[in-house]
Amino acid sequence: MNDYQFEINLSSTKKQKPAFDQLVFGRNFTDHMFVMDYTEGRGWHDPRIIPYQPLQLDPSAMVFHYGQSVFEGLKAYLTEDQEVLMFRPYKNMERLNRSNNRLCIPAIDEELAVQALRQLISVDHDWVPNEEGTSLYIRPFIISTEPYLGVAASHQYQFIIIMSPVGAYYKEGINPVKIAVQSEYVRAVKGGTGNAKTGGNYASSLKAQEVAEKSGYSQVLWLDGKENKYVEEVGSMNIFFKINGEIVTPELNGSILEGVTRNSVIELIKHWEIPLSERKVSIDEIYEAHKNGQLEEAFGTGTAAVISPIGEFFWNDEKLVINNGETGEISRKLYDTLTGIQKGKLEDKFGWIV
Ligand code: COI
Repeated sequence: MNDYQFEINLSSTKKQKPAFDQLVFGRNFTDHMFVMDYTEGRGWHDPRIIPYQPLQLDPSAMVFHYGQSVFEGLKAYLTEDQEVLMFRPYKNMERLNRSNNRLCIPAIDEELAVQALRQLISVDHDWVPNEEGTSLYIRPFIISTEPYLGVAASHQYQFIIIMSPVGAYYKEGINPVKIAVQSEYVRAVKGGTGNAKTGGNYASSLKAQEVAEKSGYSQVLWLDGKENKYVEEVGSMNIFFKINGEIVTPELNGSILEGVTRNSVIELIKHWEIPLSERKVSIDEIYEAHKNGQLEEAFGTGTAAVISPIGEFFWNDEKLVINNGETGEISRKLYDTLTGIQKGKLEDKFGWIV
């Protein structure tokens, strides 16, 4: 392990912490943040930990105009022995660099980024909550900061890491959510930025989300942008189905984000020797499987929610209720196993914990 040293400027005051048994998602932030600058010619420089504070950016900073930005999301957990564990941080930093590449942002040193996480967490370790269902959500992100209005890749960037003690992402927690199948708006197309974690993908998802919420649905099921036929993602998560005993998930096709939780779920399913296939899944296949009583479970996977069971799809004016609207056996087992490993309660057979 490398021993990166960053300049650390500690905050002279400590914020009042929220009640850790009443945490919501993404509203409270720890006392410190990590910042590193990029300037053309110098590369990435001046990695530092400073008190959490507002940014000072020129109004012409390119990120405000053309959205050249990427982000990641990962979590740290407190064990019963008061140790802090991160879940697969190298995978997130690898993906950050894949997103960087797609958005023409210079690559970061992945080892340096993980060491930055270690030091930031150690400075703010008393912000890692230990109540059931809570964790410290970590948000690394990069923004283009050059003051310039031409449409081009920026020559200046900031890499920032902030952290937030969080509770469940969906108010439903591990209870099933209702999902409306979206056939008007699309999230991404092949050749676009769907497989990069960039703000624009999320901005363009908001309209469909708003429509779904108005009809009483928590999230939308995204179909492919070309034929409007194949299932891609659910809300901001990857999606899995259990059809007639087999676990099925859409194969990565360039417009689907390669989730770290998706990858972990696939590893677990293989380890349990449950039949699994990564392939194209059409909404018609899901409809037919439901009609024939073979759609046994459906669930979303993502860092924020971990596993989010789906209790109902609304599609073509029909409600497709799955597993009586209850949490399925595989969803529950995956949730318990993943959170067990994340919290250090179960053996980490896969080497996921740092
Ligand atoms: C995740 O759960 O992985 C997400 O991307 C959700 C986040 C955008 C809040």
